[in-house]
Amino acid sequence: MPGGPLQGEVRVPGDKSVSHRAVMLGALAEGTTHIHGFLEGEDTRATARAFERMGVRIEAPGDAERVVQGVGLHGLQGAGTIDCGNAGTGMRLLAGVLAGQAFDSVLTGDTSLSARPMARVIEPLQRMGARIESSDGGRPPLHVHGGQALRGIDYALPVASAQVKSALLLAGLYANGTTTVREPHPTRDYSERMLEAFGYPVRFEPGYASLDGGHSLRATEVYVPADFSSAAFFIVAATVVPGSELRLPAVGMNPRRIGLLHVLRAMGADIVEHDPRTSGGEPVADLLVRYAPLRGIEVPEAWVPDMIDEFPALFVAAAAARGRTVVRGASELRVKESDRIAAMAQGLRALGVSVDEAPDGAAIEGGRIQGGRIDSRGDHRIAMSFAVAAQLADGEVEIDDVVNVATSFPGFVDLAAGAGFGLREVSPAA
Ligand code: S3P
Repeated sequence: MPGGPLQGEVRVPGDKSVSHRAVMLGALAEGTTHIHGFLEGEDTRATARAFERMGVRIEAPGDAERVVQGVGLHGLQGAGTIDCGNAGTGMRLLAGVLAGQAFDSVLTGDTSLSARPMARVIEPLQRMGARIESSDGGRPPLHVHGGQALRGIDYALPVASAQVKSALLLAGLYANGTTTVREPHPTRDYSERMLEAFGYPVRFEPGYASLDGGHSLRATEVYVPADFSSAAFFIVAATVVPGSELRLPAVGMNPRRIGLLHVLRAMGADIVEHDPRTSGGEPVADLLVRYAPLRGIEVPEAWVPDMIDEFPALFVAAAAARGRTVVRGASELRVKESDRIAAMAQGLRALGVSVDEAPDGAAIEGGRIQGGRIDSRGDHRIAMSFAVAAQLADGEVEIDDVVNVATSFPGFVDLAAGAGFGLREVSPAA
């Protein structure tokens, strides 16, 4: 289905990271938390279901709204096995919460999540006194034993990870003494900001977060910004499809998330931020994205953590650019919902694009994009990135294994088609 220039306005759904944390902190708070703009994705719904199973009442008075009746830090009830679905954020943050409970729990996930590394969170939690068992090689399922006395630690993360940092801070709520996390590169600070918004004393600055156990959380209102990572597919699409001019209102602009904007601008993109403001404590802006010819660049390694989820989309921008784009220092991409370096390299090659793979990145030679068939490996961001690539392809692009798009971006196909994408969903039986 050929697409045309992208035009008009696209409102992308709520931020996944913020939605997970809003449910968790709302559940652990005293009082009633209202969440506005909650992501109705499979990942965040799995987290909400987990807390409902642990005795938390969560109502959905409307689309993207949640009312969470907090039970306080010590009010959860054991639920046995909790299925986190596809969500690494859900599982890692829950491991931190559950390490501090009186009851035992088992955390499971789908095939992708079952292959993802959990030692990075198990090991520091064990240092805090947690008892957690995993499958071989630190893979899920995780058996988290309750009734352990946790103590604060001062921990330098070997790999920059907001999920691990957040798990330790959540366990730190239950620990004796001070839990401090130091990062090799600053990562998204939603947990810290939200703990503060829930009235919990926390000290933080880029690369550092610290709190003392024993305080409590007070319910609040949470306004979830539109997810920059979901907006990224439209930002790249409008940049690479000639004649496009697309507005994206109220996109979350947390500085730890917008590395892609810096990279695209360095490549020549035309992205204007209008009306920068704060909503629910988070910076947001309306974005206006116009088509612009891109040139390849070397992505500075220091920018990698600020765009860790945006590399699949960036690879497509690189394929559309003149010249070579080089990504290094991004080996974390190999342990996301899929091995994103391999998935993107294989998919782009299937569309005739030349890609040199490296252990920690890739070099992409921009040029012509052909039609072809893509295995998205069940990874939402791989599937959506190739939907963008398809807008430039000179033949049809068929993308397999796309159901997981709903983990982070329910309604993507309709929203994209409405903006001008030539895209339709075909059921497996068709
Ligand atoms: C997330 C952190 C990132 C990101 C993920 C969401 C979070 O992972 O890739 O999609 O909400 O904390 P790491 O920082 O653990 O690499």
